[in-house]
Parts: sequence; C-alpha cells; structure tokens
Amino acid sequence: MALISLRQMLDHAAEHGYGVPAYNVNNMEQMRAIMEAADESDSPVIVQASAGARKYAGAPFLRHLILAAVEEFPHIPVVMHQDHGASPAVCQRSIQLGFTSVMMDGSLGEDMKTPMSYDYNAGVTRKVVDMAHSCGVSVEGELGCLGSLETGMAGEEDGSGAEGKLSHDQLLTDPEEAAQFVRDTKVDALAIAIGTSHGAYKFTRPPTGDILAIQRIKEIHTRIPDTHLVMHGSSSVPQDWLAIINSYGGDMGETYGVPVEEIQEGIKHGVRKVNIDTDLRMASTGAVRKFLAENPKEFDPRKWLKVTTVAMKGICKARYEAFGTAGNASKIKALSLEAMVKRYESGELDPRVN
Ligand code: 13P
Repeated sequence: MALISLRQMLDHAAEHGYGVPAYNVNNMEQMRAIMEAADESDSPVIVQASAGARKYAGAPFLRHLILAAVEEFPHIPVVMHQDHGASPAVCQRSIQLGFTSVMMDGSLGEDMKTPMSYDYNAGVTRKVVDMAHSCGVSVEGELGCLGSLETGMAGEEDGSGAEGKLSHDQLLTDPEEAAQFVRDTKVDALAIAIGTSHGAYKFTRPPTGDILAIQRIKEIHTRIPDTHLVMHGSSSVPQDWLAIINSYGGDMGETYGVPVEEIQEGIKHGVRKVNIDTDLRMASTGAVRKFLAENPKEFDPRKWLKVTTVAMKGICKARYEAFGTAGNASKIKALSLEAMVKRYESGELDPRVN
C-alpha cells in the first residue's frame, strides 16, 4: 500500500524541481477524479481533509475514502494529510487515525479565528513535531495569516481563518522569522502568507505583484532554501467554469484567482505543496448546473455526479501537468512510516538553517 509521508514526497519534489497540488477531499467523486487524473499522468498525490470536510463527512469516513483510493491505485504514492489542525489534540487524533501528515496551524488560536503570537505558534507546532516525528508522520506549520493585500481583510478558510482587518506584516511572512520558526520547530514544510486566501473571491482584478507577493516567496526561499514551502489558497478560479456557472443560473460575479504561471514561478523558488479546493468546487458546480439544465427529466444522481467527476478530473490533470508533478509517481519508492522514524531519529532530516 503506497501511503507515504509528506516529507518523503516533498523531498522528492525538491530534488526533481516540481510541485504537488494538494487537493481537499469531501466525497467519493472528488477522490476518484484526483486518482484517475493521477493514474493517467503518473502523478504522486496529496489529499487533505480540511476542518470543514472533517465536519461534513467526519474524519473516519474521509480516512476510509482515501484508503479505498490507495487500495484501488496501489502504484500511486498518496499522502493522507490533515489540513489546518487547531491544536495538538486534533493532530494527535489524526495521527491515531493513520494520517501520514498533519498541519498544525498555530498562526491562529484554538478557536481557529484569533491570530496568535510567534511564541504560541512555535510552542504548539514544536509539540506536534515531537509527537508526529516519533510516529514517522510529517508536520506542516504556518507562519503569517492568509488574507487579502488588496483589502487588508483576513481570509476565511474552510472551517478555519482569522477575522477582520490584519496588518500588512501579518499578511506577509517575514523571511527572517521564517528561518527562526523552522529552526525552533523542525517542521517539514512551511505554509507562508503572500496575499492568497481561500475561496473564489481572492482578487477583484488579475493579480499583480502588489496584491500577490510572489517576490516574497523568492526572498523566503533565498533565506531557507532547504525548507519546503506551501502555498495555501492557490486556486486559479477558472474563468471558463465561472462563465458556465453564471450562464446556467449561477451568480458569482467578477473574480480572479492565482494564475497557474505565478504558481509555476513559486515552484521555481521552493514551493512544493500547492493547496487547491475552490477550482474543483467550481468545476463540479458548473458541470452539475449545466447537466441539470440540459437534462431536466433526469433524476438519477449518478448521472450528474459522473459529470462532476469528469469536470474535476480535467482540472486535476491540467495542474499535475503544469506543476511538473506528472511522470513522478513511478519514480518514488515508498518508505514506511517506521523507516521515516529511523530517519528522524538519526537527525538526517533536521532542518539545515543558520
Ligand atoms: P483555494 O480556496 O484557493 O482552493 O484554497 C484551498 C486551500 O488553501 C486549502 O487549505
């Protein structure tokens, strides 16, 4: 069974200069779309359970959905990742359930709303790192808060996210603080804030450097070149799906996401994990709206669920190809979590940050 740790997958991605989309999963259709696209393009997979998905489907259901995919596609390495853990207890529960990677988001408090101090964030993240690494499980931390550089407003994530107005400093991760954080916590991957936010309404115009700070990724990567960077809120908000949604009864308004070319620029500068949720939601919603409008007599949910799978699969495959993920699944030799424990114990995976 090819369930592997995030650290192993991202080390491979760094060595070969590619990025891996991390897709949120809530149901079977999403899972199938992600896996079929990965199968056709020979791509390694990261699937993640957000706080919203855990509330919607429940962690045990999500876990079995992912395990079913691993069973059906045993040749594809899969990372089972828990997105935005609010506390060490939440992460511990996920480790117990068999997740191979967890995110401890100590940038916010346990209410998943209040921005917290550096010391709080580093303290809880380090606690999770100690616990997770002793099980061979990887940890993603977050420094800085997601939100809009256009408005200064915090970004609401799927079940997590600060509220209200944030300072420019809170919305952009500081490279020196990032180095300190990686040293203090020993995280395997670091989510950074560069002006992206979760959801479809990221930018009111196609983003330029003042509202999407790709330059900041370059500065952070220069300071901590060995740390795997994570971009949250990285949906591109496909304009073709937006048009389909609106022409079949939707009302989404003008909005823009993170262009694929900007993500590719990030991948050249240390971004290894690219979180995507909204793009699959939009493809799925557009496909079902169109199908039901064109087939008003249809009442079998499998018919419209099938078209949502095909639509989501198209997005997944395009991202695997654009991020250089394609062609790499067969090159990864799966390491067990026991093997990862030994690697952590030997110190070979300690961060190299001065
Ligand atoms: P999007 O809303 O841009 O897809 O972001 C998803 C995400 O960051 C999940 O953690």
